[in-house]
Amino acid sequence: MTRKSVTFFAALFLMAAMTACFTGTKNEKSDNEKEVFVLSDSLINLYREQGRFIVKSSFQALSTQLTGAIQTGGVPYAVSFCNIEAVPIMDSMTAEFNVNIKRVSEKNRNPENSPDAFEQMILDLFDQNLKNSGKVNDTVLLDANNTLVYAAPILMAQPCLQCHGVIGTDISDKNNSIIKKLYPADKASGFAQGDLRGIWRIRFEQIEN
Ligand code: HEC
Repeated sequence: MTRKSVTFFAALFLMAAMTACFTGTKNEKSDNEKEVFVLSDSLINLYREQGRFIVKSSFQALSTQLTGAIQTGGVPYAVSFCNIEAVPIMDSMTAEFNVNIKRVSEKNRNPENSPDAFEQMILDLFDQNLKNSGKVNDTVLLDANNTLVYAAPILMAQPCLQCHGVIGTDISDKNNSIIKKLYPADKASGFAQGDLRGIWRIRFEQIEN
């Protein structure tokens, strides 16, 4: 991690700790005696800022490598590159920020990126928001273990279509056969620009090394 981001996170975590102790999370007992945490607005804002910073850095890491791979050997090479490198790149971002970072999608290419029940709920929520109002915002929430989670929508942009758009139109037949060879259970095509492709899911937990 760079010195800049270490300082940035140190400051944020200090603020988070202070917020949590003095004004923030309130513990209440529910019927089944499980603790229920109520998030304060300032804590939500703090984690939203952190989430945005992590997503921006992770997106940059992925897209720089992807663009480089397309320049080196076109879409066929870039697809094989993603096949080998996408998961390690995400793992390296998880190690850098010491939080659990994932991209998940219902219509996934790599089945490792399938949503669990909680992530599916966020996907459904984002999908509804997009359908109802034409826009969708990132959000901070607590999962079933009371761990803070930041989630942000991933929307389809024009350059993504050559690998995730309509087969035969956006995705050439040749490229499609390469995709199908590497990902026999691929579900990640047929998207249009502006569609909800999936979510970034950041779980703020310490990663064991
Ligand atoms: C060169 C082809 C290519 C391009 C261009 C591309 N992707 Fe992908 N994408 C892939 C491959 C291959 C995977 C599977 C990676 C893996 O094995 O984890 C993938 C996976 C994903 C995933 C993870 C969920 C899943 O389906 O497994 C998301 C989300 C995603 N891409 C979004 C995008 C977005 C948004 C863009 C445009 C900014 C984009 N992709 C551009 C090839 C591409």
